This record gives sequence, C-alpha cells and structure tokens, in this order.
Amino acid sequence: MEYQDKEITKAADVLKQRLKTLDDKRSILRAPELSALYERLKTLPSGTKRASFGKQVNQLKAELEKLAAQSSAENSDELGPIDVTAPFDSNVPPDQRPNLLPAKDGSVHPLNQEITQVLDIFYRMGFYAEASREIDDDYHMFTSLNFPPDHPARDDYDTFMTEDGLIAPAHTSTMQNRVMKKYKKDLEAGKGIRVVIPGRVFRNEDLDARHEHTFYQLEGVYVDEGINTGHLVATIKTWLSTYFHKDIKIKIQPFYFPFTEPSFEFAAGCPFCDQKGCSVCSYSGWIELGGCGMIHPNVLKEADIDPAKYSGFAWGFGIDRLVMLKYDIEDVRHFQSGNLKFLRQF
Ligand code: DAH
Repeated sequence: MEYQDKEITKAADVLKQRLKTLDDKRSILRAPELSALYERLKTLPSGTKRASFGKQVNQLKAELEKLAAQSSAENSDELGPIDVTAPFDSNVPPDQRPNLLPAKDGSVHPLNQEITQVLDIFYRMGFYAEASREIDDDYHMFTSLNFPPDHPARDDYDTFMTEDGLIAPAHTSTMQNRVMKKYKKDLEAGKGIRVVIPGRVFRNEDLDARHEHTFYQLEGVYVDEGINTGHLVATIKTWLSTYFHKDIKIKIQPFYFPFTEPSFEFAAGCPFCDQKGCSVCSYSGWIELGGCGMIHPNVLKEADIDPAKYSGFAWGFGIDRLVMLKYDIEDVRHFQSGNLKFLRQF
C-alpha cells in the first residue's frame, strides 16, 4: 500500500521489515513508531490535512494487522477464526480476501490414505471397489437386508432421517443389494462376485474417544458356488496380514445380524503385542474389528440370486478403528476435528 505522507511511508517500511523478525506478530501493533504517529496526529490542527493524516495512520494500522494475521497463519498450525458463512467475492485481489490457509498446505486425509492402501490389497485379490452412498432409503438400509418391519434389530442402527424418510446410512451394508444386482452377470459368466465398498456411515451416538456420529466402514461381499465360512476367514486373514505386514490370528464368535446366517463377531490377534497383552488390546490379546457372516438366503433372493445354487459371505469393519490401531491414535474424534496439528502428522 502507498502512503502520501512521507513520515507514514517511512514508518510503514520500518514496521513491515521488523514484522518479519517478530515471533509474536501482533506485537507490531504496539510498536513505538505507530504510537508516535497517533501522538503526532493529536498535535495537528484540525482540517483536511489532519483528516488525511488520520486516515492514513488508520490504514497503516489495518495493513499491519492483516500482515500479522497472514504471517501467523503461515507460521503456525492455528488460523484465526473464519466465518465460513460470510460471503466474499473470489474475484477480488488476494490481499482483500479473508485469511485462508494456502492450498499448497492441503493433503490427503489420513483415513483416505489408508482406504487407498486397503483397496490396493483387495484389487490384488481380485475385488472391485464401489463407493457407498451418504443418503439412502429404508429399502436398502433395512428391507433388502432381511430386517422384518418393526423388528427390534432396527434399533441397533439408530441414525439420522429426513422428514420425507431418507436415511443417512448407519452401515455400508446398504450397498449389498446394489452390488449383488450389478455384478450378478459375473455369476452367470462363471465368476464370483467380489466387491469391497468403503463408505461414510452415520450413527446417533453419545460421543467419546471411541464413538463418533460419523465414521467409515469397509463392506465386503463375496458370492460364488460352494462358498463357506473357511473362505470368509481366509479372505479377511489375508487382507489383515497384508495390511499389518505380519501374520494376524483370527477369532470369530457367534453373533446376530438379520442379513447373515450364521453371523459372527470378528476379532484379530493384537498385532502389537503378538497377543501377550498390551494397552492397545486392553490386555486381552484380541481386538474387535466388526461383523461378518454367511449372506442370508433371503438377502441373496432379494438380489435375484438363487440361494440353492450360490452362497456367499459379507463383512463390515470400521476403518477408523483399524487406522487408530495402526497408528496408536487414542481418540476417534481427531479424524473429523480438522485439527491441523493432528492431520499434518500423516
Ligand atoms: N453392517 C454391520 C454393522 O455395521 C456389520 C456387518 C455385519 C456387515 C455382518 C456385514 C455382515 O456385511 O455380514 O453393524
């Protein structure tokens, strides 16, 4: 910015130079040179000269405030508060825009980095990947998955609904019916259906270090002739052992899901202590990862697949959980926090 008054121009040069050397950028606003200009203003006789001088000193102060805010943002992980709802014209010159982090500082979110790695493992195992949806309907959330109307199991999936009955999906299983219908042609061609579906899911939760209202799951669906629980265990074991770069032990125990029969809860041997017991596995040697089971005949039928000829397995694991394990992250809420100190570690 140019100033007409020579005295102000000189002070502006000195102060802008000094600003670069300061740790506390805002302390420039307390610089003696700036106070001296305000003192000088008081001594000027009132009139246009005084008005013009006053206006320029105020402009200098505003310029310094802006520069201080910008360079603090560049040098630290904290940005001043931004009103994201405030309109601004993106055509204005950069120095008139609100302080935003430079785009070059952006990076892929840690969960997305891990999802990419997990998908790479499944591509090598012959799976396709499909994206899930962030808004769905009662049919895909419940009916297609063999939840009878008014069945109490629906209460386990307490999520958010719009007034006209659309649902923020509480699990990625909502995609099972769609992918089975889409890849049914593979069965007819003598190949199995193999699909993984990473996706964002939503639950009405009391939030704490282990519970978020929004998190990610990885759904898997495998259908072919002669598929049994052994294939289920082997597939997941291969995936986890590849992901953690070591042989991972597997434990399944009976559970209930309307869409699988039999249904299991799935646990992996703790990869950190080799099951000797550590704080990550709460000294149990095992870590719960999610649910799985053999796809219920009614779910196959709903996708026009003949359960007398074909069988399959499916699973749904929490991705946040897996990533927390891998990097020893203590609080699931970090993922959605937007906290740059957390995100920049990845
Ligand atoms: N959708 C279940 C949940 O979020 C997890 C799950 C269990 C998925 C069994 C499956 C399955 O595909 O077969 O609680």
